[in-house]
Amino acid sequence: MKPRVFVTRKLPPAVMEFLEKMFDLTCNPYDRVLSRQELLDGVSGIDGLLPLLTDRIDAELMDRAGDRLKIIANYAVGYNNIDLEAATACRIAVTNTPGVLTDTTADLTMALLLGVARRITESDAYTRSGKYQGWAPLLFLGTDVHLKTLGLMGFGRIGMAVAKRAAGFDMRILYTNDCQVDPEVDKQFNARCLDKETLLKASDFISIHVPLTPQTHHLMGAREFSLMKPTAYIINTSRGEVIDEQALVEALKKGQIAGAALDVYEHEPEIHPALLEMPNVLLLPHIGSASLETRTKMGMIAARNLEVFFKGEIPPNCLNPRIFS
Ligand code: DGY
Repeated sequence: MKPRVFVTRKLPPAVMEFLEKMFDLTCNPYDRVLSRQELLDGVSGIDGLLPLLTDRIDAELMDRAGDRLKIIANYAVGYNNIDLEAATACRIAVTNTPGVLTDTTADLTMALLLGVARRITESDAYTRSGKYQGWAPLLFLGTDVHLKTLGLMGFGRIGMAVAKRAAGFDMRILYTNDCQVDPEVDKQFNARCLDKETLLKASDFISIHVPLTPQTHHLMGAREFSLMKPTAYIINTSRGEVIDEQALVEALKKGQIAGAALDVYEHEPEIHPALLEMPNVLLLPHIGSASLETRTKMGMIAARNLEVFFKGEIPPNCLNPRIFS
């Protein structure tokens, strides 16, 4: 008998094909996030769950699923949507999809950085609207990216991949990180580790690459924005809650910073209404990893985690391996 697996949203075709072959599969039939009730109903009688970062997987849900649920294979590298402690207490394995989305997310970070600095979306909207009357010396003046200072908050896989790209633009790389980075890596990216305050004061662009944890919640608040240069930009492709969105709005209104480029939001999918009105803010709908190649790889990793688990082995990306000891 094949294990019963529930997928909370349709994934790329190659992934669905693989999952259908391997498991007794149930999938969310709608093209939307499931309601809480639908999610709770969906987990009854399943052996494995493949949820998204938009699904809250907490103790109530695990309780509803009962003893039969043995693995939660998240379709994301971030797993702040899952109560890992509750899962461990229930001896449910939890996995994520690290590595495969590093470069895709770093690519998008550069797109945001360049987009906000060179006013790409504003210029595009203007051109499409038929307002373009020919070249003009002061039309959509932005700011240069090359030779500027990039402050990376978080210097893990994605932070380093951004540094690699930024080096191609001759940017100076600074970073903060909660653990020591190999000096060879600093050399490789010509990067310098600084304390948060110095980094905020020195950078022309700040880009955030930390996971969401109690320690990183509101990592950027009123005080941090007040330390940034008035000509500096903030970019976020990590998790919305690392920025205090109200404080960001205030900083933008006061001209404490020059602009923002965001892929994620504090109360996703809601966006602070003031941000929607600001031309110096570039907004994307959480598409950091959204290439067909990467979303397919993420799905195949999640599927492989399920496959290995149901063969009786520890899945490769297990976040709580101690449940196996
Ligand atoms: C992740 O995997 O955590 C990303 O946010 C998905 O794009």
